[in-house]
Order: sequence, then C-alpha cells, then structure tokens
Amino acid sequence: MSGRPEIVVCASIDTLYERAARLFADAARTSVAARGRFAVALPGGDTPRPMLERLAEPPHRDGVRWDRVEVFWSDERCVPPDAPRSNFRMAREALLDRVPVDPKRVHRVRGEDPDPERAAALYERGLRAALGVPRGAPHLDLVILGLGADGHTASLFPGSEALLETERLARAVRASEPGIQPPIVERVTLTPPALNAAWEVAFLVVGEAKAPAVWAVLEGPREPSRWPAQTIDPVRGRARWLLDGSAAGRLSDLAPAPAGEP
Ligand code: 6PG
Repeated sequence: MSGRPEIVVCASIDTLYERAARLFADAARTSVAARGRFAVALPGGDTPRPMLERLAEPPHRDGVRWDRVEVFWSDERCVPPDAPRSNFRMAREALLDRVPVDPKRVHRVRGEDPDPERAAALYERGLRAALGVPRGAPHLDLVILGLGADGHTASLFPGSEALLETERLARAVRASEPGIQPPIVERVTLTPPALNAAWEVAFLVVGEAKAPAVWAVLEGPREPSRWPAQTIDPVRGRARWLLDGSAAGRLSDLAPAPAGEP
C-alpha cells in the first residue's frame, strides 16, 4: 500500500456493521449532494449481509436517496440471478427488495450468460454508460470489499492475470484458475483500475480466520500477486478497513479508536 489506509477496529461485530451502514449512508449523502447520484459497488460473500440488512431499516434506510443510487457489484459468480450463490440475490434479499431503488439503476452482472467474457464486457459497458465515462476509469463513489482468508478480494485471486489488468474495468475469471476459492465457478470481477478509481474503498473483515490475511495485506511484505488485496490502493480516493477485534488480532501498530467511536 503506498499510503497506509485508515484502520478501524470495532469493539464488536455489531458495532462494525453499524459503522459500515453509517459509512454507506454518509457516502451516499455526500455523493448525491456533490454529484446528484451515488454509485456504489457491493461486495459478495457472507460478511456484508448484516450491513445490507441494517441499511434496509431505520435510521439508515431513511437517510439515503435510494432513487439516486446506482448499484453495482465488485464481483459476481457466473450463476443465475436467483441461484443461492448469486451475489446479486444476496443483495436483493438483504436490501434491494426492501428499499425504493430504481430498478433501472441496478446494474447486475448477467451471471446467467454462458459466456463470462461477454458478461464482463456487457458489465463494463453498463458501468461506463451509467457513469457517463466512455474511456478511462469511472469513479465509483464507494466500493465495499470483503477479504478471503487467502488474501483475495472481489474475485481477484492469488496469481490471477486479472491482477495485472491495466485497461479493462471488468474481467472474466475462469473456474480453472489455480488460485480460485470456493465457490469454484466462473466469475466476473471488477479489476484494479476500476476499483482504484473509486473515491472510497471500504473493506469489511470479520473473524479470526481472516487475521493472518489481514496482517499479510496490511503489514506483511508487498507481494500483491500473493496477497491480491494489496492491489487495492485508490489513486485519488481513500481506503478504509473496518475490522472486528479478531480479524485485527495480528496487527501491531494500531492507533486506539477515537473516544466514543464504536
Ligand atoms: C465473493 C466475494 C469475495 C468475498 C470474500 C470473503 O464473491 O465471494 O466477492 O471476495 O468478499 O471471499 O467472503 P466472506 O465474506 O463470505 O468471508
């Protein structure tokens, strides 16, 4: 990481999710006020569900102009949108069916497409069109990411060619990639150029099983091919890690959280 990101160690998992929901709502308010819209990429996996559920309830639900939210995903499994492993399905159940988002502003990856490369190209085209950026990397307002125990994020796995992408915003990831983690399916992922163009990136990481990867990414030697989350270093934006005490358990130099902060 060129600049050390802000690291927030929350006193409990509950306060982590409250802090994450508040971060989302604050970013939404700031972006809508500044740009008339809030373009957010949601993560996949299990960790983010409680945050999404909190956003669907007061007070956070009432603090977001849902009609101005452009919803994307950091990555998607190449499965139908109603499949149990679909990241879109998880977000739809936890949040999108429960708030008044404009369906035309929900930009899912077409996981049902039998050709992941075509799905990635369509997804990139949709991202560019929605944000009005035909060339270069559009600035998502917020990207929320998880972290795998192997240090992957989105569907950027150790040793993946996608880690070296410099032009495309989205790429297909083959199930045959050596570093892929379960579920072992084809995927589509945003690439480092797309992720690092974001104004804000927030990692949500919970649990002792992730502590070695958190240490390796944040305090270990720089080796982004082995620890893909190290490729996430926003060019002009900022990165923040929201950790519970277990996930932060191996970190050394932690500034104490400001008094009164969860
Ligand atoms: C996915 C995710 C992936 C996830 C991590 C952590 O599609 O699986 O995007 O990067 O965030 O694997 O997953 P958990 O939150 O389930 O531990």
